Amino acid sequence: MPDTLSGPDVALELDDIQGTVLRGRPNPYFGAYLIFEIEDPTQSLRLLERLLPHLTSAADWQAPAENAWINVVFSHEGLRRLGLHPDILAAFPLEVQQGMAARSEFLGDVGRSAPREWVMPHALNGFHIALHVMAGSPELREAKLAVGHAALSELPGLKLIYRLDVGMPPTKREHFGFVDGLTRPFIVGQGGEPLPGQTVSPPGEFVLGYHNAKGEISTGAGPSEFWRNGTYVSLRMIYQDVALFRRFLRDNSDDDYAQELLAAQMMGRWRSGCPMHQSPDRDQPELAKDPLKNNDFLYYDSDPQGRITPLGSHIRRANPRDGLKDSISDADLHVLLRRGSAYGPVLPEGQLEDDGMDRGLVLAVINAFPARQFEFVQSQWINNGDFIAQGDRTDPIIGRRDRADDFLVYQPHRHRVCGLAEFTILRGGEHLFLPGLSGLRWLLDHLRQRQSEDA
Ligand code: HEM
Repeated sequence: MPDTLSGPDVALELDDIQGTVLRGRPNPYFGAYLIFEIEDPTQSLRLLERLLPHLTSAADWQAPAENAWINVVFSHEGLRRLGLHPDILAAFPLEVQQGMAARSEFLGDVGRSAPREWVMPHALNGFHIALHVMAGSPELREAKLAVGHAALSELPGLKLIYRLDVGMPPTKREHFGFVDGLTRPFIVGQGGEPLPGQTVSPPGEFVLGYHNAKGEISTGAGPSEFWRNGTYVSLRMIYQDVALFRRFLRDNSDDDYAQELLAAQMMGRWRSGCPMHQSPDRDQPELAKDPLKNNDFLYYDSDPQGRITPLGSHIRRANPRDGLKDSISDADLHVLLRRGSAYGPVLPEGQLEDDGMDRGLVLAVINAFPARQFEFVQSQWINNGDFIAQGDRTDPIIGRRDRADDFLVYQPHRHRVCGLAEFTILRGGEHLFLPGLSGLRWLLDHLRQRQSEDA
């Protein structure tokens, strides 16, 4: 391992890291996931050879020739099908080896969220390799997709089994109406300076080959040439029952203001993105737009009991910031790099009855340690309340709903909001490996060698 990768002042090897890890998306953004099943592993070399020239690194991201990008991820089963050596496969993190479906009980993906109900394939029923395409317009997305698809689809033995179109409107509002994509950690080495309030994380939390929050170098399976500059993506397709969410707000509020207040208490931010912490009793859209202010808040000193931002609200659970200073939890070990995109049509404003359409959020969590990052947050903070002395209560918006649930608020007076409903349902999920570009080249050589040994 070169020394340059071990110090805290390391520069990230941007030209080797797939772009989606570090770079934001265009706004508006039009994307798609194409999921392939590998039926014939002998095609694997041609598959990788064809893919490589089309991938975009984080270095190329800012000035793309065609304002469209493509990245590739593999499931553990996909790598096995491709012919990766069994010893390397066995060295992957357990959660990646097992796949997300096998972890469903632990993650709280039960009832209507259980794997038997999923519509998006997972590793055990065909999700072996996926392309993620991003573009600034639908036309550019289709053009880039045609390139990627052509590279793969003519190959016998590789079958396109699922396509999901995703995107984000210029308003950046997800289906429940909240502005998303405001918070992301500042990664040491990414360039620039952190914004006020931005969590600063060492690169090894999100990219393999660099120092992490435990002061160690994050490593992967097999030789460093394979995993360096790669990472894991914990992907979730989450249905949102928008009509149910709207009816819940209406039924638990006396007027429009009370509805917006309740929505903000559930999220921890007003729908514009304005943090409750900065503006406890009214939305301030201008504040939400100001990157110098919209993340500049902590909880420990100013709001220890959750009187302003409820302890149970989505953003406070998903990232308690300094709020757990007195507990054994170390929030720095559970920081997530999120890429959320919407899928499905918007339910027209004001409509309170469901139209039967599938809509929701595709969340790609980028993390070097899926068990202690995504899985910890999902199982201990989203789907449990012990860490905030709230027993087995869960996230008011996305928590599991296999038992009655409520949450505590202090405005307009201290009370519990009861009858939380199943506002979201998991439609699929998988832990995936996203290699660096030289890792992909190493994989290609490795597979060539294994095939020649077999011949
Ligand atoms: C349908 C599902 C979901 C919706 C609609 C949703 C929506 C949002 C919104 C609107 C924000 C505030 C904007 C921002 O801070 O960027 C947010 C923040 C966040 N969400 Fe979610 N989210 C969903 C699922 C999840 C899941 C499954 C996780 C992780 C297990 C998660 C983790 C986070 C984190 C870490 C933050 C940042 C909190 C902070 O740093 O203050 N979200 N989410």
